[in-house]
Amino acid sequence: MLQDFERYPLTFGPSPIEKLPRLSQALGGAVDIYAKREDCNSGLAFGGNKIRKLEYIVPDALASGADTLVTIGGVQSNHTRQVAAVAAKLGLKCRLVQESWVPFPDAVYDRVGNILMSRVMGAEIELVDEGFDIGIRESWERALEDVKAKGGKPYAIPAGASVHELGGLGFAGFAEEVRQQEAEMGFVFDYIVVCTVTGSTHAGMLAGFAMDGRERRVIGIDASGTPAQTKAQVLEIARRTAGQIGLGRALGADDVVLIEDYAYPAYGVPSEETNEAIRMAARTEGMMTDPVYEGKSMQGMIDLVKKGYFPAGSRVLYAHLGGVPAINGYSYLYRNG
Ligand SMILES: Cc1ncc(COP(=O)(O)O)c(C=O)c1O
Repeated sequence: MLQDFERYPLTFGPSPIEKLPRLSQALGGAVDIYAKREDCNSGLAFGGNKIRKLEYIVPDALASGADTLVTIGGVQSNHTRQVAAVAAKLGLKCRLVQESWVPFPDAVYDRVGNILMSRVMGAEIELVDEGFDIGIRESWERALEDVKAKGGKPYAIPAGASVHELGGLGFAGFAEEVRQQEAEMGFVFDYIVVCTVTGSTHAGMLAGFAMDGRERRVIGIDASGTPAQTKAQVLEIARRTAGQIGLGRALGADDVVLIEDYAYPAYGVPSEETNEAIRMAARTEGMMTDPVYEGKSMQGMIDLVKKGYFPAGSRVLYAHLGGVPAINGYSYLYRNG
């Protein structure tokens, strides 16, 4: 399926799948919940979902002869931190544009967590006072031009590595990896729950799981708060990825299951229900999630289990995509746990 594409290994290998019995039990025990731990997938600065995407992008970056990876995200972007780590590992320079996507007032927001690590790893960081938008940004285009003007050779990686031509392949590979793990475990998952924002994680899974007819079993939980744009981006990337991996049939808008109910009050701002979900996963399983992404998909999964969305006896795979470093930017909020 992915044999035609070069892959530069950046992960430890297949990410582990872990059963979450205490969380399943706390939710009534009718559904068995598992987590695939993309948050533990690599030694590169705490890993996460972008590392898997970048495995298929790095060969193109190296072939281009670029000397600087240029990307964009919010102030506490996990994506930019992972690109900084990959650049360091490859001996390339890294230029990061970090926009004010989250209206969060914590005094240390731009000093800790992801952005702290990116600085330590040597990335050049430009803070830009612009609000949330997953599209192509002028600030990023300016940074690309600036690298060129200074004699460098930039390699462009869009937000979340999503609309990059090769951005969906990593998570098509995730589906293939899950199939192998299912064969070893002797059962298949009925549903896969994934947090969706810039779209290529969900889209890659959609194309990959469509290979065995499970595209509508990928349940996206929107954390963007701009679901129409996110959904359109997922469909576009899923179609492109499906073509690349030879699915041989068209994917339609109805194949993108994106639940919009949990992104409130805004991208990057957790609701009280998000915080309760973070505490529940932490206190039943010792599994940390973050207030921007995985806390919202955890909230969504918990609520869907409680509502009976998954039939009794279902096996649900929660894709844990990383993101915990950002919780440091919310230190005041969690000062009492
Ligand atoms: C921890 C985490 N979870 C989920 C996502 C969403 O992935 P995507 O942007 O591919 O939709 C991201 C990145 O945006 C992330 O960093």
